[in-house]
Amino acid sequence: MTSTRERLSVWVASTFLPEVEAEIAEVFDASFEPTSEPAQAIIRSDRDFDALLVSLDAPMPAEAIEALPESVRAIATYSVGTDHIDLVAARKRGIAVFNTPGVLSDSVAENAIFLMLGAARRATESIALIRDRKWPGWNPTQIVGVELSGRRLGILGLGDIGRRIATRAQALGMEILYCNRSRVADDEDRGFAFRASPEELIADADVFMIAAPSTSETRGLVDTELLLHARPGLILVNVARGDIVVDEALIEALSEGRVWAAGLDVFAGEPDVAPGYFDLPNVFMLPHIGSSTIEARLRMGRILIEALEAWRRGHAPANRVC
Ligand code: DGY
Repeated sequence: MTSTRERLSVWVASTFLPEVEAEIAEVFDASFEPTSEPAQAIIRSDRDFDALLVSLDAPMPAEAIEALPESVRAIATYSVGTDHIDLVAARKRGIAVFNTPGVLSDSVAENAIFLMLGAARRATESIALIRDRKWPGWNPTQIVGVELSGRRLGILGLGDIGRRIATRAQALGMEILYCNRSRVADDEDRGFAFRASPEELIADADVFMIAAPSTSETRGLVDTELLLHARPGLILVNVARGDIVVDEALIEALSEGRVWAAGLDVFAGEPDVAPGYFDLPNVFMLPHIGSSTIEARLRMGRILIEALEAWRRGHAPANRVC
């Protein structure tokens, strides 16, 4: 327990849906002051805050965490990913960090299937053809894609999101392969086949799905070397973080046809997108909308409110990251 106050004083650094902001205001003594530099803004405010509510648009690198006033004892991030927060610096300062696992997994998994289908059925070209009013009418050779049924989906990172992607893909008739740091206990029961390395996974997959968090181990993992192991006709999908992929390597492989198509929801250096992707009709891309459903967005707010309240009462909620 870190606060004796009845209501936590919380700086809300991002803008949330009105319903989420109303729930936050009901529970906390909340200051809604969106900023991409919350630490500086709190210092300037000269007021005491117990906690900071951020998201991907208000990153907390080490310098920002070190600069936080003593009163700030918790950071809650409206995301499952925590790569925008320096957890080492937070641990050093004894600052608790909370995130939003589980509650967005269905939405992200549905988006993963959307990206996979969009890439397989050449959605970028199809949409352009009809929306540009250039469609000459049906013909037998027009925008021929591939079926997913009977193909192999290789999931890099079989966590909660990865598993939900897998069960949905099984319903499409796909076989599931996965690569994790270690084998999951019930993989055989669920019909998931383990591959010990990303190289083996990509070599055996028709669709390579990135669902792993961005860490020092995964950043830049999908590079030219790894892509050389891809089998012909590979579709690559990324629903995790853009920096797991080396953009130049993927763009080159897509241009040369070594990777047949890609479905991308996330990009290194968002909101900037590597210009090469725009020139490739075999790239189906979305602006990081994985968790962007009303259901997920409401649950994400609630899980953080509950976590901060539990923490205020001295409990340890399951979504405490450090
Ligand atoms: C996350 O939660 O990390 C997503 O990328 C944004 O919802």
